[in-house]
Amino acid sequence: MEKTALPETMEGAGLRLVRFHPDQARALYEVVALNRARLEPYLPWVPEVLSVDDEEGALRRARQQWDARNEFSYVIFAGASAVILGAIGVHHLVWEQDTCEIGYFVTAGAEGQGVVSRSVALLEKVLFSLGFYRIEIRPRADNTRSVAVAERCGYRLDGCLRGSLIQGGLRRDMLVFSKLRGEPEAETGPPWEPRHTTLAQVSSDSTVSA
Ligand SMILES: CC(C)(COP(=O)(O)OP(=O)(O)OC[C@H]1O[C@@H](n2cnc3c(N)ncnc32)[C@H](O)[C@@H]1OP(=O)(O)O)[C@@H](O)C(=O)NCCC(=O)NCCS
Repeated sequence: MEKTALPETMEGAGLRLVRFHPDQARALYEVVALNRARLEPYLPWVPEVLSVDDEEGALRRARQQWDARNEFSYVIFAGASAVILGAIGVHHLVWEQDTCEIGYFVTAGAEGQGVVSRSVALLEKVLFSLGFYRIEIRPRADNTRSVAVAERCGYRLDGCLRGSLIQGGLRRDMLVFSKLRGEPEAETGPPWEPRHTTLAQVSSDSTVSA
């Protein structure tokens, strides 16, 4: 397929996906700092983000990757608010093969509420409509929550890449899940609403950006 840019914003299911921007650096850094222990075991870039400047540099590089059509990364916001719930991105695009991979994380305060499953549903719809044929999700075999996202969203287990990754000093097995164009789309379900009574409470264990 032709290299093409994804929409810079996607809205639906009570969520708003917005292209990474350096203006988000402080808020995203706070998210990473507060969630470091949860994210570090699974996301290789986390140890490199030790300051707002590191985060800003990462966001600028991500924008370059977007412009080069190599990666498309989004912040997940709660509806129209400035509350950051997590991030989701499209990586490892092979335009000649119409294939790509989705990766994600959520803050502790937004975990277990379908934020990621809804975001995958929004994103895969756009990817398939643009012409992608195969979308992968590749969790570590012991990352039960990420495996559950892939299964919940209707991705099929293709297999296990045994010992394919060294992470945290140990050799790990990676699972490959995929969905092909035409297979049942993930459901967003009812619009996301914070489990807590107010967004301020959600943000107390995630973050707010003004
Ligand atoms: C992996 C990770 C993103 C999964 O997040 P999550 O919140 O469990 O996933 P979802 O947003 O799909 O939420 C699913 C939960 O919401 C519930 N839910 C509520 N409404 C829902 C809806 N409309 N759709 C889907 N699930 C819904 C599900 O029942 C499920 O509940 P459970 O946790 O009690 O089983 C998260 O654990 C994380 O950030 N981990 C660290 C980083 C990481 O591992 N990233 C992945 C690398 S491959």
